Amino acid sequence: MKGKEILQQMTPYQPGKSAEHIKRKYNVDKIVKLASNENPYGYSPVLKQSLNNFSFNFEFYPDGYATELRSTLSDTLKVNDEQFVFGSGSDELIQIIVRTFLQHGQHTIMATPTFPQYRHHALIEGAHVTEVPVVDGKHDLDKMLAEVTENTKVIWLCTPNNPTGLSISKDEFVSFMDRCPNEVLVVLDEAYYEFQDPKYDIDAINQLKVYSNLITLRTFSKAYGLAGLRVGYAVTTEKIARQLNIVRGPFNTSQIAQKAAVIAFKDQNFIEETVSKNKIVKDQFAQFLKTINWEFYPSEANFMLVKTPSSGEHLFNFLIEHGYIIRPGELLGYPKTVRITLGEKDDMATLHLLLQTYNRQMLEQE
Ligand SMILES: Cc1ncc(COP(=O)(O)O)c(C=O)c1O
Repeated sequence: MKGKEILQQMTPYQPGKSAEHIKRKYNVDKIVKLASNENPYGYSPVLKQSLNNFSFNFEFYPDGYATELRSTLSDTLKVNDEQFVFGSGSDELIQIIVRTFLQHGQHTIMATPTFPQYRHHALIEGAHVTEVPVVDGKHDLDKMLAEVTENTKVIWLCTPNNPTGLSISKDEFVSFMDRCPNEVLVVLDEAYYEFQDPKYDIDAINQLKVYSNLITLRTFSKAYGLAGLRVGYAVTTEKIARQLNIVRGPFNTSQIAQKAAVIAFKDQNFIEETVSKNKIVKDQFAQFLKTINWEFYPSEANFMLVKTPSSGEHLFNFLIEHGYIIRPGELLGYPKTVRITLGEKDDMATLHLLLQTYNRQMLEQE
């Protein structure tokens, strides 16, 4: 049985090897996972404590409307309840958006490199994808606009951009939106929103009052540390949300995920702590990279894209032997780089030593 034609040219997502497998293979005691931009500080301690007090009714389907989470978010973000769509991670929302708006013969535009799932889902729906190279790690918004045709339905903006870490400023965004045709949907993926310097806040939620062709995506997987629970949300106009909700599966976020997200969202202390620890580690890492003369992109997120003297794969293989898992740039479409999630202070200090050793080895080989 053969699936869609396009699937013959695509591959399933390759999950990394399990921690146990790596421990055994390389004979290491500890695995430090710096590959998926998860939160190295875990998740809200308030949530951890409250989990013991909950009784969940697993025999029932979850609340398909995510009522409590919806009202918690709408109170804080000051938007109407009907402007939200919830997903099993923002990954699922990307899939829902593509399914809602793209089909064969239609066109979508994104940066490269950026989060690969925009492309992945668009191709499966038979859409034509234009990828516009980033310039110094930033979206080339003028070129992206220049690629708009009468068939263009969706443009993807990722800020801070994964994997380069750079953010789009509010002025750049407004100028882009003012020139983007209203019939073209703009998806603003703010998965790393909480980490960026507030000076880069596009104020996306309020921009919806001006631009009716906008969807903003946020997630509980990154700063909130709930990647394992799979919950993200879209904020958009009621008209767009209604259409996305037709495509969305009726029970796509679980009881636990909804409840945890409510509690985690209310614990903004944890977010502040995460963001401030991330900033300290990021500044220290940047300082360190300068001492070994490695170039990097100034990141607004919880990861950094670093240029490597060898291939990214080569550095990946060196680090995994010491229990450190990072993402080689070759897998991200950016050879001779690695994307490193910023970990805890002590793990990063060890990483500095490992990179120093690796750099020395590379220099000796020259
Ligand atoms: C830019 C971006 N968008 C969306 C996602 C998906 O996150 P989730 O499905 O966990 O919400 C990720 C995850 O790495 C990401 O980097």
